[in-house]
Amino acid sequence: MGKGEYKGRSSVDGWEYDAIMQKVSPYMADFQDLLGTVIKEHFGERKIDIVEIGFGTGSTTKAILDNNPQAYIRAIDIDLGNREVAEEKLGNLANRVVFTESDACKYLGYLPDSSCDAVATALFLHNLNNFDRLLLIKEIYRAIKPGGLFVNADKYALPDPGFRKAQAWLMDSYKKHLSDRPDVLESWIKHELEDAMPDVLMRASDALRQMKMAGFYNPRFVYRNGIVGLLVAEKQ
Ligand SMILES: C[S@@+](CC[C@H](N)C(=O)[O-])C[C@H]1O[C@@H](n2cnc3c(N)ncnc32)[C@H](O)[C@@H]1O
Repeated sequence: MGKGEYKGRSSVDGWEYDAIMQKVSPYMADFQDLLGTVIKEHFGERKIDIVEIGFGTGSTTKAILDNNPQAYIRAIDIDLGNREVAEEKLGNLANRVVFTESDACKYLGYLPDSSCDAVATALFLHNLNNFDRLLLIKEIYRAIKPGGLFVNADKYALPDPGFRKAQAWLMDSYKKHLSDRPDVLESWIKHELEDAMPDVLMRASDALRQMKMAGFYNPRFVYRNGIVGLLVAEKQ
């Protein structure tokens, strides 16, 4: 997976991205908060070292830090263009974050075995094709310490008609909230269609299978809303 292959929503800056997300996917904030609480429930008050992949504008980073005062985050993204947005959002919490620009596969590939307590990510993994996704999940498994955790809030497709229904809802939400921004609407719809390509679509059932293949224990969805699910798995 090369840097150039990321099919991002680059037509908006970070603040605008956040504002649009609040309108088109208002439930995402709940997912991000819950992701933080899942980490808290797992580790309690222990000091923990988390790798967050694809921190973007830092909303998930903030949810993790808010819920886990003892957590330190190595936040990586293939593009640091939104680092300032993330830093402004985090304020003092940014003291517990080290930002790094890197491709996720390269970064995880260089991490030593059992070198972090958890890997967290949101709305990133669905961008990869199924092959790259499995490679990355295997690297994530290798990098997490025994007893550690993987948690991902992301688009996980249910069997049809569930997926088509959820996708149609999202497309309608885009059309409703982006009617004044036809350029953005076009690129976000294009992104949705690319996410649904057969070699890319992240099906919930395949995702659970991939997690088990990589060695994870008890991968499961703890929360779902429409097209998005919160997947949690442990390394024993
Ligand atoms: C949709 S944003 C999600 C942002 C954030 N996680 C959130 O919850 O709002 C996806 C992020 O993944 C990053 N990304 C895409 N491909 C990547 C890769 N191969 N390695 C690391 N980061 C990547 C993008 O630059 C983008 O910031």
